[in-house]
Amino acid sequence: MPLSLSSIAVTWRSSWPLFLSFILLTFISSPNSVNAQVNKMSLPVSLYNSNHDHFVVIAHRGASAYYPENTMGAFKAAYDMGAEMIELDILLSKDGVPVVIHDETLERTTNGKGKVEDYTFDELSRLDAGSWFGAEHSNEQIPSLEEVLQYAKGKIALNIEIKTEAVTDRLKGGIEEKALELVKKYDMQEYVLFSSFDYRAVTHLKELDVNIAVALLYEKQQSKNKRPAQLVEEYRVDAFNCSYRQFSKKWAEQTSEAEIPVFVYTVNSERRMKKMINRGVSGIFSDKPDVLRQLVDNMWKSKGS
Ligand code: G3P
Ligand code: MG
Repeated sequence: MPLSLSSIAVTWRSSWPLFLSFILLTFISSPNSVNAQVNKMSLPVSLYNSNHDHFVVIAHRGASAYYPENTMGAFKAAYDMGAEMIELDILLSKDGVPVVIHDETLERTTNGKGKVEDYTFDELSRLDAGSWFGAEHSNEQIPSLEEVLQYAKGKIALNIEIKTEAVTDRLKGGIEEKALELVKKYDMQEYVLFSSFDYRAVTHLKELDVNIAVALLYEKQQSKNKRPAQLVEEYRVDAFNCSYRQFSKKWAEQTSEAEIPVFVYTVNSERRMKKMINRGVSGIFSDKPDVLRQLVDNMWKSKGS
């Protein structure tokens, strides 16, 4: 059965009730919508930033072009730059705490050595997670997911990417359930989009709570030559995320036809941002959320006036 607009809208509505009513009203009242020609789907925009553009500016690992990735500094800067969503990566510490870091090992982004999973959160939080980027960032630490949720609440939406290395076959007690529990503890369900390259995590999340918003992060091997729309239907997810390199014209036609929200990573040049917006994406992950924000605002202004 092809994915219908109503089925996506229902899923989306259940996860983003405030957004939906706001956006629907915007569609009805704003004939000059910047993305009216490309975004057929009701989408979340900022919680409190009502720029009415039907498009999500996502700060990839925070404002990671300017601050060390996946740190509070990068997240706070992303918010200050007008991002509507922060993307972050999570793994589990030795004592089972969801921690915000991209790599399975510590060497690239901290002064630690070895695997994240071999250290307790207390040990991880004593590492320097900023000096690799610049001496002035030496006070940055590896945040816990909980710390980021505390910061984001009432400010900004989150895309929580569960890294493959932390995923197991188990439904209960794993990183998916721990992260979901934290999201619920802070009552952030309506403002969080989960995603993973590991389709087991995607399945587990929907099994744990069918109403939580989840995006499939395209991974070739697990996809077995299936088209995005087939994958979205099969895994019953709310959105499709992929690299801008993968998002071909053909895929754009298919996802547009099926009214599937698509978010592409990681786009830092204005030329590519424009290309992807014209191809119909619903949001872009960028290390430079300020550049994307400016571009989208300018497009909105020029089309809306
Ligand atoms: O979630 C989008 C993007 O972050 C996926 O790739 O390696 O940057 O986590 P990566
Ligand atoms: Mg990521």
